[in-house]
Amino acid sequence: MEEFRGRIYSDNATEKHRGSWREHFLDSASNTSTQKSSERRALHVEIGCNGGHVSLEWADRNPKDAFIGLDWKFKQIHRGAEKANKRKLDNLIFFRSHAERLPFMFGDGEIDFLYLFFPDPWPKKAQWKNRFLTADRLLAIAPLLRPGGVFHIKTDHAGYFEWMENAVSELQKENGRLWKVTDLNRDLHQDHPNPTTLQIPDVTLFERLFIKDGIKIHQMKLTRL
Ligand SMILES: C[S@@+](CC[C@H](N)C(=O)[O-])C[C@H]1O[C@@H](n2cnc3c(N)ncnc32)[C@H](O)[C@@H]1O
Repeated sequence: MEEFRGRIYSDNATEKHRGSWREHFLDSASNTSTQKSSERRALHVEIGCNGGHVSLEWADRNPKDAFIGLDWKFKQIHRGAEKANKRKLDNLIFFRSHAERLPFMFGDGEIDFLYLFFPDPWPKKAQWKNRFLTADRLLAIAPLLRPGGVFHIKTDHAGYFEWMENAVSELQKENGRLWKVTDLNRDLHQDHPNPTTLQIPDVTLFERLFIKDGIKIHQMKLTRL
């Protein structure tokens, strides 16, 4: 659709500009100060962005950075893209695709910040095979981040969080140190006087619901070595 040309990339199109996404933002052709500057523009990628609530706010507040929201649900991506169009956010694009394809979408060191907020926890043992974060995935994703780049993860699910910690340890044992755990918190908002007042983008849409239900938020930050 013409309205979303250059705003939404779907399926194979998300793998078309592997390694050069910074040049394919809507504002790339214009003479913004960011483009004139020789400084490398930070690229943020949010996996499972849903309707793009967090990326929309971040893009609005950080016009010099570039943002990609990725989700496999077309309806949510479409909603996010509509809002980005309305707000004329030329530094935010959306990928409608499967996060498992990430290594085919991005080149080596292309990403500065990667986010995985509240991935489906697949709580039953028979479903664990569907969990996104595994040692193999951490291995496959590592080259996509520049050294010093950060993979920021949040979950409400204590079991999945423990699984993630094990995935990191397993990877370190077998492949040396690709990531450094730079933040590990099992109750992220414990020091906040009233976390129910937190707003997007300081919390995500799902996070707000979990906080309302009194569920502890777990956070991990992995820095690429
Ligand atoms: C529980 S929701 C969290 C949404 C948002 N991150 C938040 O915190 O409000 C999980 C999101 O991940 C998306 N998702 C799940 N598995 C995915 C996959 N393999 N590839 C892309 N998106 C996925 C879902 O469509 C959904 O929007």
